[in-house]
Parts: sequence; structure tokens; C-alpha cells
Amino acid sequence: MVGGSVGDKLVIEGLHKSYPVRTGEVTALEDINLTIGNGEFIAIVGASGCGKSTLLRIIAGLENGYDGTVRLGDRRIAGPGLDRGMVFQEHRLLPWLTVEQNVAFGLNGLVPGEKERLVREHLDLVGLTGFARVHPHQLSGGMAQRVAIARALVNQPGLLLLDEPFGALDALTKIQMQQEILRIWEVERTTMVLVTHDIDEAIYLGDRVVIMSSRPGTVKRIVPVNLPRPRDRTSYEFVEIRREIYAEFFAEAERPFAYAI
Ligand SMILES: Nc1ncnc2c1ncn2[C@@H]1O[C@H](COP(=O)(O)OP(=O)(O)O)[C@@H](O)[C@H]1O
Ligand SMILES: [Mg+2]
Repeated sequence: MVGGSVGDKLVIEGLHKSYPVRTGEVTALEDINLTIGNGEFIAIVGASGCGKSTLLRIIAGLENGYDGTVRLGDRRIAGPGLDRGMVFQEHRLLPWLTVEQNVAFGLNGLVPGEKERLVREHLDLVGLTGFARVHPHQLSGGMAQRVAIARALVNQPGLLLLDEPFGALDALTKIQMQQEILRIWEVERTTMVLVTHDIDEAIYLGDRVVIMSSRPGTVKRIVPVNLPRPRDRTSYEFVEIRREIYAEFFAEAERPFAYAI
């Protein structure tokens, strides 16, 4: 483990979030109940607009208000904190800073040498030793996301929130990054909450797959994935879970089509 920080249990109870709009209000999340254990890897899937990003932003402390309970250990989440890191679909690196400066950006108040050590260790962790002095435009998409992961982990948060982090990568780079995040999780034991629209990615990575439904956004079902890692995407058990999750997404009426092919 690079850091040594151990997180707390994340408890979400009766979470409700609505936004004011011209015609009244839009309910983004309704009655979300979810407890995420320390060190667990949770994958969240759901149609576009069902509230996945809203949920992650609330956990990250980036939303102004919500109803219900969202707490990490015994602390109610009411703003951003170093105990939570976040990675977005876009890397959001500062283009005028080098890779190491980007990773070091949020590290303050450390004794001399400590900052450099943490940055070096986290660049090693994401496999970017040797790229410390380059600028973001010199990196491939996958490498830029590795830097974003290093930047999110350098404060040694107990919880890492990932909002479709590999969504913009090509298929092979994406698989490589899934293997990377798994390796990092196994080393760091950081609690991971990953939002994805890729069902295979969710089954490959998650201890549990949380399926959300829309209008209003809520948890429809939670599917445990009791398969040893690394998982074989072509195994019978994996395909069975994929079938189960697909069935949640497609209504009865659409199934005859599946039988016809
Ligand atoms: N700041 C906002 N103001 C108004 N509506 C919002 C805002 N953010 C999100 N929404 C609405 O909340 C719902 C969920 O959005 P979001 O969390 O981005 O969904 P997802 O990430 O699952 O695609 C959508 O209907 C969206 O239009
Ligand atoms: Mg989103």
C-alpha cells in the first residue's frame, strides 16, 4: 500500500435530490439506500440521465444540498474533502503543468521531501515512472487517465469515485485500464465507486453491480458478483451475470427479438 489510509463505511439512506427548474423541480434521485463497505468495489450502471453523476457528486460533496443521509463513517457529507478522490471521463489535467505538477497540485502543507515522495510513489503506482516531466498534450488518452487517477489518489483518500473514467477510451485501452484499476485497488484497498455504462466493465470490476433506473433515479437492483479475480469475461458464470443484468434493462416486450436471433 502506497498510503496506508483506510476508509470508512459509506452509508446512504433515503437520499433524495431535486433541482429547481423553470416549471417546478426535477427529481434526479429518489430514495437511494446503499451501504458500501470499507475496501469494497462497487460498480453502478444505469441509463443516461438516471442520476449516476448526481449521486457521485453528492458523495464527493460537490452538490449544494440533498435530503436524507449520506455519511462516511460518522461524518455527514456536506462538502468536498481529502478523504474522497474523484476521476471524471475527461482527465481535467492543467495543460500548462507537467505530469508531476498536476499530481502535486492539491498537496499542501507537507514537510520538504514528503510531497516529492508521494508524487513519485503515485506515478509509480499508475505505471508512469519516467513521465513526470512531460505535459498532458504529450500523453495518450489512457496515460492521461492514469495521471488523473494518480492525482486523485495522492491525498490517500479512503474512497475513490470514478465517473465513467474509461468511457472515452478505445476498446483495448479500456480493457487495459480496467486491469490497471483492479491492480491499484488490490494494492491500495481504497473503496471504489465506479459509474459506467459498460455492463462488462461493471461485472469485471465490481463486488456488486448496482443497477439504477430512471425517472426518478433510484436503485432498481443490486447484483453480487461472486467470481474470483481476475475474471474471465467469456466464462459461463460471467455470461450468466451479464444475461441477468441485461434482462433488467430490456422489457419483456423486447425479448422475442432476442429469441429470434
Ligand atoms: N444542475 C442541474 N440542474 C438541473 N437538472 C440537473 C442538474 N444536474 C443534473 N440534472 C438532471 O438530473 C438528472 C440526472 O442527471 P445525471 O446525474 O447527470 O445523470 P447520469 O449521470 O446518470 O447521466 C437528469 O435528468 C439531469 O437533467
Ligand atoms: Mg453522468
